Amino acid sequence: MTDNDGAIQSVLQEDRVFDPPADFIERCGGAWVESKEQYQTLHEQSIEDPEHFWGAVAEELHWFKKWDKVLEWECPDARWFVGGRINACWNCVDRHVENGFGDQTAIIWEGEPVGDAGPEVRRLTYADMQVEVSRFANALKKLGVQRGDIVTIYMGMVPELAIAVLACARIGAPHSVIFGGFSAQSIADRVTDAGSKFVITCDGAWRRGSVVELKANVDEALSMTDLVEQVVVVRRCENEIDMHAPRDVWWHDVVADVDDTCPCEEMDSEDMLFLLYTSGSTGKPKGIVHTTAGYLVHTFLTSRYTFNLRHHKNHVYWCTADVGWITGHSYIIYGIMQNGIPSLMYEGAPNHPGPDRFWDICQRHEVTHFYTAPTAIRAFMKWGEEHPRRHDLSKLEVLGTVGEPINPEAWMWYHRVIGHERCPIVDTWWQTETGGHMITPLPAATPTVPGSCTLPFLGIDAAVVDESGAEQPHGSGGLLVVRKPWPSMLRGIHGDRQRFIDTYFSRVDGMYFAGDSARRDERGYFWIMGRMDDVINVSGHRLGTMEVESALVSHDSVVEAAVVGMPHEIKGTGIAAFCTLSPDWSADDRLRDTLRAHVAEEIGAIAKPDMIRFTDALPKTRSGKIMRRLLRDVAAGREAGGDMTTLEDLSVLARLQDDED
Ligand code: PRX
Repeated sequence: MTDNDGAIQSVLQEDRVFDPPADFIERCGGAWVESKEQYQTLHEQSIEDPEHFWGAVAEELHWFKKWDKVLEWECPDARWFVGGRINACWNCVDRHVENGFGDQTAIIWEGEPVGDAGPEVRRLTYADMQVEVSRFANALKKLGVQRGDIVTIYMGMVPELAIAVLACARIGAPHSVIFGGFSAQSIADRVTDAGSKFVITCDGAWRRGSVVELKANVDEALSMTDLVEQVVVVRRCENEIDMHAPRDVWWHDVVADVDDTCPCEEMDSEDMLFLLYTSGSTGKPKGIVHTTAGYLVHTFLTSRYTFNLRHHKNHVYWCTADVGWITGHSYIIYGIMQNGIPSLMYEGAPNHPGPDRFWDICQRHEVTHFYTAPTAIRAFMKWGEEHPRRHDLSKLEVLGTVGEPINPEAWMWYHRVIGHERCPIVDTWWQTETGGHMITPLPAATPTVPGSCTLPFLGIDAAVVDESGAEQPHGSGGLLVVRKPWPSMLRGIHGDRQRFIDTYFSRVDGMYFAGDSARRDERGYFWIMGRMDDVINVSGHRLGTMEVESALVSHDSVVEAAVVGMPHEIKGTGIAAFCTLSPDWSADDRLRDTLRAHVAEEIGAIAKPDMIRFTDALPKTRSGKIMRRLLRDVAAGREAGGDMTTLEDLSVLARLQDDED
C-alpha cells in the first residue's frame, strides 16, 4: 500500500518497551503529566469536553479581549476562541518582559563559521527581543507594510529571521517563510500565489563553509514577477550582491532611525498568522493557512507537555530544524517562546567543520532538550559514535524526533549513544497542516516503543479507520484521521477552497484525513506506515512526486517522467525518476547530471533525484495511467509483485527490471 509497507511489518514485531526513567521526574524537578494513568484520565476528559480543556489552556495566554465561545465547528470550518483578541508576538515576547522575566534568554544563536576564537554566538534576552522586534516592526510599517499584507521571508538561520517573523506577527502582517534551500522559481511561485509585495532576505547564508546566494535567488525570482515593491536585506555573509534602488534596502539602514517601541496589533483569534507552503499530490505547492489564537494555544501546550518544559529550570532547548519548515515555526519560535524558554538556533550544517559539530554545540551550550529528524540520526550513526562520545551530553533531559518514521535501529542508537539510556525519546507525529504535535509520547508518562509515535496528545481524537470511517481492529492498516477539530488545525489552502475540502475532508466523511496510513498495536499505539498520496518524505522534507516530474519534463530532453520514492539508508526515502527521452538526446551520465541540476534549479537541491533511469516506455495501464506501484518495486530492486493484469505491455516492465542505472 505504501512505500515502506514491508519495513512496517517487521517493526510491528517490536516488543522492546522503555518505561520513563524512574528518576526522570526528580531529575527534571517535576513533570506536567506524571504517569500513564494521569495521561489517560486527562485524555479522556479532553476528548469528552474539548472546549473546557482548551479553554483552560487558553486562560494562560494574554488576551486583549477574552473569547466569547471556545469553538464553532461546521466541518471543515473551525473557529476557535471566537470573538477573542490576541497578539502572537505579545505572547512570545512582551508577556515575559511584563512578568519581570525580560532578562531571561530568548534566543541563543550560533553561526556556522568557526574562527580562532570559536564560533560567533549571540544571545538575545526577551527584553532584547522586544526592542529588536519593535524596531523592525516599525521599519516594516515605514516601508508600507500594513495589517493583512503577506510578507515573504527567505533567509538563513540568523536571529533576524526570528525577529522578522515576530515583527510581522506584531503588526498583523501574515508571514510566508520559504526555506532557504528552495530555488528562484519556487520563490516566484510562492510570492505570486500569496500576492506578496514585500520580501525579507539575506545577502547569503553559510552552509558547509560556502555561501548560499539568497539575494541572487531573490533577484532572479523577482525578474519573473513585478509584484514585489520592497526587499529588505540582512547583511550576513558580505558576499557581493546587487542592490536595486529603490526596491532593495538594507536591514541595518531601515532600523537605524525608527522608534524602539511599537504597539502590538489586537488581532482577531481567527486572523491569519501565517502561510506556509507545502507539497501535495499535484505539481503545485499549497499555501497552508494558520490563524492566530488556536495555533498559539496548541503550540504553547504541546511545547510544554511534549518536552516537559519548565520555566527557570536552566533549560536550553534546541530544535535543529530550519524555520522554513513548520517544525521551526512551531518549535523554534512560537511554542517555545510562549513558554519563555531559551531557544537555540544554529545556522549551519551538522558536519561543519567536523562530524561532531552538533555534540560540541550541545556541550558548550548545555543543551537540555534536543529535537531533530531521523535522517540526521541515521547520518550520525554512519559517521560513528566516537563523535558524540567525545562530548559531555549529561545535561540532556528529553530527546525528540520529527518528520518521518524512525527505524528502530536509529531509535536505539539515539537512546543509547545520545541519551545515555536515561532520556525519554518523544517521537512526534504531526504535519504542516496540523500546526502542532498530534501523536506523541509524554516524557514522564508514556512508555515508549522504538518506531512508534505512541498515543494521541491531549485533546486529539486520532484514529485508524477504513473509508467508511469505521475504526480498524488493532493490527490492521487503515487511514490515519482526526475525528474532532483541534485548535491549530489548518483553516484552509490559500486561494483554493475546493482543494482544501477535497484533500482533507472528502476521503472520510466528517473527519480530517492526514494523507498517512497507520496501524495501532495491541497497546493502542500508533505506527505510521507512510503517505497514501503522491507525497514522499525525503530526509524528513516533504516533496510531491508530481512537482519533481513537472520539473523534469520542463527540460527539453524529457518527454515523460515518473517519480517514486525508494528506500535510502540516510534519507529514509530517496527519489527515483524514470524518464523517456526525446530522440535527439542520448541517455548518458552527462544528461543525468544535467537533469539533476535542472531539478535543483526548478525546485531546490532537496529535490534532486538520487537515481535517474532512462527508459523507452513507462509501465502503464490500458487507460494510460502510470503504474507507480511497479516502479516503486523496480526502484527498490524488488521483484515487481501484485496484480499485473491491467498492465498494457508486460515487456516494458521486464526491460526496466533488466536495466541498471
Ligand atoms: O508522513 C508524515 C511524516 O511527515 C508528514 C508531514 O510532513 P510535513 O508537513 O513536512 O511536516 C513535517 C514536520 C511535522 C506526515 O504526513 N511524519 C511527520 N512526523 C512523523 C512522520 N511520520 C512518522 N513519524 C513521525 N513522527
